[in-house]
Amino acid sequence: MSSKTDKDHYIINGGRALNGEVVIGGAKNAALAIIAASIMTDETVTIENIPDVRDTNVMMEALEGIGVRINRLDRHTIQVNGSQVENVNIDTENIRKIRASYYLVGALLGKYRHAEVPLPGGCDIGSRPIDQHVKGFRALGASVNIKGGVVRAHADRLSAAHIYMDVVTVGATINIMLSAVMAEGKTIIENAAKEPHVVDVANFLNSMGANIKGAGTDVIRIKGVERLHSCTYSVIPDQIEAGTFMYAAAITGGDITIRNIIPKHLESISAKLEEIGCSIEEYDDAVRVTASEKLQPTHIKTLPYPGYPTDMQPQAGVALALAGGVSTITESIFENRFKYVDELMRMGANIRVEGNTAIIDGVEGFTGAHLVVPDLRAGAALVLAALAAEGTTVIDNVRLIERGYEDFDRKIRNLGGDIVKTDDVRMEVKKSKFKVV
Ligand code: UD1
Repeated sequence: MSSKTDKDHYIINGGRALNGEVVIGGAKNAALAIIAASIMTDETVTIENIPDVRDTNVMMEALEGIGVRINRLDRHTIQVNGSQVENVNIDTENIRKIRASYYLVGALLGKYRHAEVPLPGGCDIGSRPIDQHVKGFRALGASVNIKGGVVRAHADRLSAAHIYMDVVTVGATINIMLSAVMAEGKTIIENAAKEPHVVDVANFLNSMGANIKGAGTDVIRIKGVERLHSCTYSVIPDQIEAGTFMYAAAITGGDITIRNIIPKHLESISAKLEEIGCSIEEYDDAVRVTASEKLQPTHIKTLPYPGYPTDMQPQAGVALALAGGVSTITESIFENRFKYVDELMRMGANIRVEGNTAIIDGVEGFTGAHLVVPDLRAGAALVLAALAAEGTTVIDNVRLIERGYEDFDRKIRNLGGDIVKTDDVRMEVKKSKFKVV
């Protein structure tokens, strides 16, 4: 339950097309790894384009808790100085809430040869093991044990290794890069993840003096350096925030220009939106999505980059639930990522989940309902559904959406969406004469 002061609900009056322009912030998942990596030098590092979202703030608070000095120059720019780290044992309730806490194992192990960090939390979208992270740390010569929910990693010295990843994992690829940048010798990661944020973290580390080659391909080569130094770095735009607004146009029948993006990172999303009948115009750092016709059905399978991203799966599910025919979505990355389906059915969608596939029979429209956000991306997708629905939708637990979207409600309002955030649903409904179904 939220407290009285936590604005933990959205009230959305649906049925309006979203039109206009939206500016995308820095990539949450890149920023989290970069903030963790920034403590690996004793010099001051400046990071720009940090999104002001719950997860990045939790990461910064956790670092401040172990003596890292963080100076917020403005809402999106920070200076980090990791020279005064007092201990390598991060044990705060907060840090358990975010998945990216595991990057502190790699960063602390890489710099101090020792780390104690609670096992990661994050969204409940599947079992989310960390065996590949552990395999990498051990290959570099660390002893790793997990007891009482805490990962302890220690090495007298770290030396290079040739590591073959058994699954393509973003988290483990980045974590092994962090622990290997100052190891002795040349580490090779095979079957590495190729996501844009893997490349961004490698670029950041290289700006600090690391020697990483091949990020963005499936073989990454890291030549260990003795020390890292200060730098100024700007985080890449958020592929998933951008993709979510692209779907906002598709789902509401709108016309949105999404600015401050890298179109290359959005290709798999653009391709699917074109397939379902949207028109896409690409510019150097913007993309315009127009949806003027009834959406068409299609088939989607989530895959590691450059395949269709799992973090864009729920948004696609909402769009296809309004398409004229039968679509399928196969989720191949996480096993529990269809939690939004039950909520969507309460709005009138017709979806059957069989194993890791959702079979979606498009309906004419949704009707407003009272919903609960199950996880971050599912929550954003439900907001898009509510914007397209007839009538009013109340969505609870929106703090989960704020883990990854900055000013989500304000950005939607700027596009003409009727959304308010409130701690008192009844009062808000009375004030605005909304009718909650
Ligand atoms: C990151 C993102 C998340 C995104 C996901 C896939 C962060 C904080 N989160 O999560 O938003 O959905 O990438 O793009 O950046 N796996 C193992 N063993 C491991 C690690 C992973 O088997 O040691 C499996 C996972 O269960 C999953 C797959 O590998 O099936 C991909 O996971 P991974 O890419 O590591 O995702 P996360 O880093 O957790």
